[in-house]
Amino acid sequence: MIEVRDLHMHFGGFRAVDGASLRLEQGSITGLIGPNGAGKTSLFNCIAGVLTPTSGQVLFNGEDITGLKPHELFHKGILRTFQIAHEFGSMTCRENLMMVPAGQSGETLWNTWFGRKRIADEERALRAKADEVLEFLTISHIADLKAGEISGGQKKLLELGRTMMVDAKIVFLDEVGAGVNRTLLYTIGDAIKRLNTERGYTFCMIEHDMEFIKQLCDPVIVMAQGQVMATGTAEEIMQNEAVIEAYLGTGVKNKKTETEDAE
Ligand SMILES: Nc1ncnc2c1ncn2[C@@H]1O[C@H](COP(=O)(O)OP(=O)(O)OP(=O)(O)O)[C@@H](O)[C@H]1O
Ligand SMILES: [Mg+2]
Repeated sequence: MIEVRDLHMHFGGFRAVDGASLRLEQGSITGLIGPNGAGKTSLFNCIAGVLTPTSGQVLFNGEDITGLKPHELFHKGILRTFQIAHEFGSMTCRENLMMVPAGQSGETLWNTWFGRKRIADEERALRAKADEVLEFLTISHIADLKAGEISGGQKKLLELGRTMMVDAKIVFLDEVGAGVNRTLLYTIGDAIKRLNTERGYTFCMIEHDMEFIKQLCDPVIVMAQGQVMATGTAEEIMQNEAVIEAYLGTGVKNKKTETEDAE
């Protein structure tokens, strides 16, 4: 579905992404892991149009999408989650979802003058859709709360919910589980799994929690120093000597111990 060919993202002389190549298969939940500073977020941002790569190619179902802007990718169904912007914190969770779909008819003057009924109809449909999304994510109870006042984990679910308001095909998640308590982490994982199996979403997710990765992701891609160093199942990756080596100091094992300690 997505193919990345020899991608480079240089910042001045620094090679954050240094010739990365990978494939994301339709229907998969691919995990992207690697030590801090490996270039994972930079790679994501190149694929999702936030950064323009220095060189290399990104293909979407064979079409060259290198350098397209986030809104252009959005229309193709390629989405990355963003933190709920500060200025939307005073809107309710439902309202945050309702404003995602682009091209609402309320935006044009013509429709403002002549299409009041249509606007009302669309708003009703949007509201129903938002409520359906909240229910799917099991957070109907926060619909009327201000987005600025919900917990960190609930915010992550709401960010995921934003991708459900449009026709997403592939969603990129950058550390969606970071700092989230175990219960909500389970809810998030479950939502990802159901979006994948029931709605055909393809995912690529950066995550540091290997347990979370193991439960959701196949395959797992490991990045180090701007390059892809290994691809395999979570089990294979966790036994790969070169991967363990790359993690020394911040190791996979250390991370796992930390998680267990926290429980
Ligand atoms: N805009 C930028 N300008 C300069 N250097 C940058 C920029 N963005 C990232 N870098 C550098 O590129 C390297 C890779 O960063 P990146 O955020 O992609 O890593 P990461 O794998 O996501 O790390 P982490 O696991 O800590 O999130 C880092 O050394 C970082 O300091
Ligand atoms: Mg990162």
